[in-house]
Amino acid sequence: MANEFAIGFDNLEQETIDQELHVDSGHLPPWLRGSLIRTGPTLFRLAQQSYQHWFDGLAMLQKFAFDDGKARYTGRFLRSPDYVKSSRTGLVSSDEFVSVPSRGPLERLFTLVDPERQFGRNGMVNVLKLNDSCYIAMTENPLAVQFNPADAATVGAFDYPDDLHSVLNMITTAHPRYDVARKSIYNFVSRLIPLRPRYVVYRLDNGSTRRTVVGEIETDALAYMHSFGMSENYIVLAEFPLVTHPTSLFFMPLFGTPYIKSYTWKAQRGTRFRVMDKRDGKLVGTWEHDALFAFHHVHAQEVGDELFVDLSVYEGGPAVIDQFYLARLRAAGGGEISYSGLRRYRLPLRGGSLRGGSLRGDSVREERLAEPMLEMPQFNYRRCSNGSYRYIYGVSFTAPGKFVDQLVKIDLQKNENRFWHEDGCYPGEPVFVPRTAGTAAGDAGAEDDGVNISVVLDTRRRRSFLLLLDASTFEEMARLDLPHAIPFMLHGQFYAGVL
Ligand SMILES: [Fe+2]
Repeated sequence: MANEFAIGFDNLEQETIDQELHVDSGHLPPWLRGSLIRTGPTLFRLAQQSYQHWFDGLAMLQKFAFDDGKARYTGRFLRSPDYVKSSRTGLVSSDEFVSVPSRGPLERLFTLVDPERQFGRNGMVNVLKLNDSCYIAMTENPLAVQFNPADAATVGAFDYPDDLHSVLNMITTAHPRYDVARKSIYNFVSRLIPLRPRYVVYRLDNGSTRRTVVGEIETDALAYMHSFGMSENYIVLAEFPLVTHPTSLFFMPLFGTPYIKSYTWKAQRGTRFRVMDKRDGKLVGTWEHDALFAFHHVHAQEVGDELFVDLSVYEGGPAVIDQFYLARLRAAGGGEISYSGLRRYRLPLRGGSLRGGSLRGDSVREERLAEPMLEMPQFNYRRCSNGSYRYIYGVSFTAPGKFVDQLVKIDLQKNENRFWHEDGCYPGEPVFVPRTAGTAAGDAGAEDDGVNISVVLDTRRRRSFLLLLDASTFEEMARLDLPHAIPFMLHGQFYAGVL
């Protein structure tokens, strides 16, 4: 028997095109004008083969367009090469996070000599606006899929038209960070050179689709990093001790090893905070700390001579990755996930006097910023990304042993938390939209003046609804019926003015 929220890991096979949503209760704020576009896996079972992990399924784009107090909904499959091929064959077509195609000996050899055969193009983790005419859906390799934000229809495969497009640069994050002041998007790729693996940090300037290298950080083993941190002047890569080596990645197809299984937890390595100066691309220093694991950097900020690095850290280390196997999530009593909490790591920059060196021991101070379990962190990015912040929003659980069943707002200044919870309901990432979205008044108003928008799975009615919370009070502002259950998606972005 499955648990009640297992329907959040079932196939959604129905597309919905531009359907007006009924406002079930409350009202939509009149200033809310634009679209929340989300991506995530919605096809887990194919005709001949099933995906094994939450981070494997074929993507659907979900678009919620708000204008004039009304909302419209579109859900369309991302017609990626993986989707097209897998729909035709009923089989897994490329290496995903865990699932791999069943390849015969010859096919394994072909894949070994032509790695482009190996990696999937299935943008199910996040979406990104590169410029007004280019929106992409991303996963953790750079092979993206372009879509049209007007109707969520797929445009086609997207590759960055630059020299970084190479089979050596096939690992990246789906969490690029936008530098509001510089008008540049930052991200990095892991370069798979066996003798000298490294992270190559790049930026996309002012709407360009070409990546410019900022700098490189050499390493002895590549860490699995789902995101990174960025302050006004620095990039922070937290090298968790879940590591692999380029040769292991190259030989994956020969042995049929799942991507994430090529990484090994080596707690004795500890965590290495690698800090790069965005201005010259130089390594400022490496700070070592105990072994820890996180998917999401929340924020980074420079305070005096210190760099504060805030992470949502899992107490059980990388065990959470195994907790997201679909069989486990669906099983009776399943869906138990480890606690992750907001932690701050204070790195003493000391004016950059490290000169690329390494600091060991207790130079890193760890602070427990808040108690509630926190994932899918959100904050007023436009206003606070280059400085301090007070409020963080995210998904949470009501008690250890539960799947995420509530939303939380953390107030760092008052050390207070507010929650939204309803029995039988399982909310997704509460995307924060400031009242000033789409206006020139980027810093006007209170930091929490806006709304949080979350897609909530209501297991009592076996369908989802769209929830809008007043980000200031964390009280319910509006609830809109959706036509069916939407599986648990991953990330989304709000685009002001896109209707
Ligand atoms: Fe993520």
